[in-house]
Amino acid sequence: MATEEILIAAELLRRDKLVAFPTETVYGLGANATSSPAIKKIFLLKGRPTNNPLIVHVDRLEKVDAYVELVPNSRLSQQFKLISHLWPGPLTVVFPQKKEILSDMVTAGLPSVGIRIPDHAVAQELLREVNFPLAAPSANKSEYVSATEADHVRSCFGPDLYVLDGGKTPLGLESTIIRLTEDGAPELLRYGFISKEQISEALSDGVLDYVPLTEPKKPSSPGQFKRHYSPATPLRFVKDQSELIEQANTCQGTVGFIAFSLPTETLQPNIVNRILSESGDQEECAQNLYSTLRELDKSQLDLIFIERPEEGPLYKALLDRLERAVC
Ligand code: TXA
Ligand code: MG
Repeated sequence: MATEEILIAAELLRRDKLVAFPTETVYGLGANATSSPAIKKIFLLKGRPTNNPLIVHVDRLEKVDAYVELVPNSRLSQQFKLISHLWPGPLTVVFPQKKEILSDMVTAGLPSVGIRIPDHAVAQELLREVNFPLAAPSANKSEYVSATEADHVRSCFGPDLYVLDGGKTPLGLESTIIRLTEDGAPELLRYGFISKEQISEALSDGVLDYVPLTEPKKPSSPGQFKRHYSPATPLRFVKDQSELIEQANTCQGTVGFIAFSLPTETLQPNIVNRILSESGDQEECAQNLYSTLRELDKSQLDLIFIERPEEGPLYKALLDRLERAVC
């Protein structure tokens, strides 16, 4: 990334404007996390409910305790040390918040704050240049599919938003989120590339799964909003290719089919087929999932079918996102 682009982006952020930037997971829509006027613009532009808090991004570990209530020698500061080797990386940790530094809008008035240190050169350069924390949700309209390419961001928000183009994001799925508290057990709020087992091993402690609420009034994480990550075209699971063929036969128009590996059957001509990974590699599937959903969503299809992911390292993360995207 040319330094000049970073300098332009940093100057816009200093003036309380929004800037989209790549991270290793998805593109973020960034603003100064200490400025309420700037944060307000994120909620407005995304059409995001203001009760859904934002993740705060910093460039290194030393910056975390400026925003987090870490009492020396407490259980929480011990846990912080134990997981810190997972940063920079695709992990967000929700901690008790040190009050009155971040804009209250960032945390939706909650006593906690979600912090992440992204592992992406452009995000790191930008954070170092501005020297303030960046609140950044995924750079998509609320409830739509996250952006893994600069063009995805532009297609959501148009030409007025400054986008740092870092190419395709390497991982393609949003970060894992865990919550740490002084007393309770660590809790997994969103699945991602960093697995529950990795966190559990790092902490030498059991990690609880969140219990999704049916009608969340004050969700403890967005993962708890049922509908999320959805294309406009209806998306449905099929259990296998024979079910797909059967279903497609009953459709008048053209349908999409997203496969996790090479289909073994010959598919009828009214099926537009996309393969996430020829070899069935789940990391490759995750990297291609959102761009494929977006591409098919623009293809005037009546319906999109997708296979259920199989057991594998990203099974839970993929299933979690897709269960929220299907209707
Ligand atoms: O990979 C990612 O996490 C990307 C990149 C840009 O960092 N960001 C992202 O942000 O996915 P977003 O806003 O689309 O989803 C993060 C979710 C929020 O919806 C929010 O509910 C949850 O993290 N979160 C943030 N702060 C929280 C808090 N204090 N307590 C519980 N959940 C929190
Ligand atoms: Mg999001």
